[in-house]
Amino acid sequence: MACKRGALIVLEGVDRAGKTTQCNKLVQSLQQSGRAVEMMRFPDRTTIIGQLINAYLEKKSDLEDHTVHLLFSANRWELVPLIKKKLEQGTTLVVDRYAFSGVAFTSAKPGFSLDWCKKPDVGLPKPDLVMFLQLSPAEAALRGQFGEERYETSAFQRAVQQKFEHLMKDLSVNWQVIDASQSVEDVHKQIAYHSLNAINTAQNLPLGELWK
Ligand code: ADP
Ligand code: TYD
Repeated sequence: MACKRGALIVLEGVDRAGKTTQCNKLVQSLQQSGRAVEMMRFPDRTTIIGQLINAYLEKKSDLEDHTVHLLFSANRWELVPLIKKKLEQGTTLVVDRYAFSGVAFTSAKPGFSLDWCKKPDVGLPKPDLVMFLQLSPAEAALRGQFGEERYETSAFQRAVQQKFEHLMKDLSVNWQVIDASQSVEDVHKQIAYHSLNAINTAQNLPLGELWK
C-alpha cells in the first residue's frame, strides 16, 4: 500500500505573535506522539537566494521592491521539490511563514495590489491548514521591542495585519484564527487540535495547488 502523505501546516501572524515558539512546540509534540514531522521556515536564509533576502532584511543591501518580492517567492519555489518529496514520504511539515506573509508584506507597500503580489506564488503546494496567530499591536508590544530589521515598525505591521485580514476572507484556504494572547500552553492545545485534524484529513487527499 502506498504510504499516506504528510500534511502541510503553516503558521502565520504578526511579528511576536508566537509563530516560532508554537512551530517548535508543535513539532516536538507530534514527534513525541511518534509522527514523522519536520519544521521549515520562510524565508529560508541558508540558500543563495535566502542570503540575498537576509542582507536586504538586515539592511545591508537595498533591493527594488518588486525584485525582493520575487526573491521571497523564488525562495519558496526552490524548496518545492523538497516539500513535495517529504510530504509524499509521509512527513508532515510545520512551516513558519509562507506565501501569505509574502503577499501581506509586499502589498502593505505603496503601489502594490494584492492580486499582483499573489501571482508568483500561484501553484505552490497548498497548505492543508493555515493558522493565523492573532495578537493586537498593544499585546505584541508587551512581548518586547522591535528589532533592527526592515519592516519592524508598528505602522508597517498594522498595514500588514490589514492585508492578512483580506487574505483570510479567501475560503479556498483552510484558515484557522487562533487567539495568540493566551498562554503558550493554551495556544499550543488549539494548534495541536487543528493540526491533528489536518493530518488525518490530508492523508487521504491529493496535495492542492495554492490560489489556482
Ligand atoms: P514570532 O515568531 O511570531 O515573531 P516568537 O515565537 O519569536 O514570535 O515569540 C516572540 C516573543 O514572545 C518571545 O519572547 C516569546 O518567548 C514570547 N511569547 C511567545 N508566545 C507567547 C505567549 N503565548 N505569551 C507570552 N509570550 C509569548
Ligand atoms: P522571519 O525570518 O520570520 O523573521 P521574524 O522571526 O523576525 O518574524 O521573517 C523575516 C521578515 O520577512 C518578516 O518581516 C516578514 C518578511 N517576509 C516577507 O516580506 N515576505 C515573505 O515572503 C516572507 C516569508 C517574509
